[in-house]
Amino acid sequence: MVDIAILGYGTVGSGVVEVFGTNQASINKKAVEDIRIKYILDLRDFPGTDIENLITHDFNDILFDDDVKIVVEVMGGLEPAYTFVKKSLLRGKSVVTSNKELVAKYGAELLEIARDKNINFLFEASVGGGIPIIRPLNQSLTADEIYEIMGILNGTTNYILTKMEKSNMSFDDALKLAQEKGYAERNPAADVEGFDACRKIAILLSLALGQHVDFEDIYTEGITKITKTDFDYAKTLDSTIKLLAVSKKTEHDVFSRVSPAIISKEHPLAVVNNVFNAIFIKGNVIGEVMFYGKGAGKLPTASAVVADIVDAVKHMQRNIMHFWSTEKVNILNNDDVVVYKFVRVAYNDFISAENAVKKYFPTSELIKLDSLNDEFAFITSFEKEIDITNKLNSLLKENGVAEIRNIIRVEK
Ligand code: HSE
Repeated sequence: MVDIAILGYGTVGSGVVEVFGTNQASINKKAVEDIRIKYILDLRDFPGTDIENLITHDFNDILFDDDVKIVVEVMGGLEPAYTFVKKSLLRGKSVVTSNKELVAKYGAELLEIARDKNINFLFEASVGGGIPIIRPLNQSLTADEIYEIMGILNGTTNYILTKMEKSNMSFDDALKLAQEKGYAERNPAADVEGFDACRKIAILLSLALGQHVDFEDIYTEGITKITKTDFDYAKTLDSTIKLLAVSKKTEHDVFSRVSPAIISKEHPLAVVNNVFNAIFIKGNVIGEVMFYGKGAGKLPTASAVVADIVDAVKHMQRNIMHFWSTEKVNILNNDDVVVYKFVRVAYNDFISAENAVKKYFPTSELIKLDSLNDEFAFITSFEKEIDITNKLNSLLKENGVAEIRNIIRVEK
């Protein structure tokens, strides 16, 4: 019998209890041990429910109970999660978490403690919800040098963009629906401003490189400026718009960013819709590989948490995770990253505005929508971000150009 404790009875915590309730016998069989939930730490009491007798309000009940071998942190946020997780590891308990904020900020330190104690710090559910991605990066793809990761890592924003594109919904209505369905973070900015995806790509890149990637070094832009009109343009380009987390490693540098991007409908990520996430990886041996599944929601996330609990039970005295060193990866400054950008230009004189665009972006072709008679769009050449920004600033001063209505990166 292995006793575990769950920290937090929110969406994911209650999902974990539900998964055990549904599949207890097969989970025990796979773990080759019976797993028992001994405590649930929460501020609330839940009187009259099945979990009433498991509830504690005092973390020390768990910390100092040596029968508890595995602590499952599903509270989210940095504190008190970090303090509880660190204390648990130092006390010799393995920890399973779904908390990407925690892993992105303290992963290197917590992995090191687990390695020193010969126990485990596992976090499959922190990226991609129910999609197995941490374990493949840790085990199956270790023969490869991974040189590109491109992912749709946030279910809420993918849901919103899908609803905007396919159901003609406004951004606000689609966000509200995502929140009602329990996909969104408590603070919607974490999803729609790209912060959640930023932490997730930092975790994947840290694992791929074996070195700490500071999420604060990753350029991050959300989807709040994306409109129906942008989707209309994307459609004429036989493309769609996704919030992409991108990391690429060349011989000389590594860059990473989170931003909306126009991608061709031919791209494998273009068909990833609704709350689904996908991670597209390129390795120098395996070539291209893609992971796909539900990236948010109670049960998909709980499924990944429980799989980690089983792994922790099976490897009680053996550390199985690669650790990544605390040494920081140098991420290329976003200004120096080379990109294509889609630009919407509003004009008060078409011919002058067209000539101005040709002056700065001579190879670009204008894109017009029949429904709009005061603007056109174009795609820049493949240039450094800073050079494009400087040229667009100059463009704005030219005769005929009224304003720039939106700028979206294009992934080719
Ligand atoms: N808010 C997150 C998302 C939940 O929408 O993907 C899973 O991390």
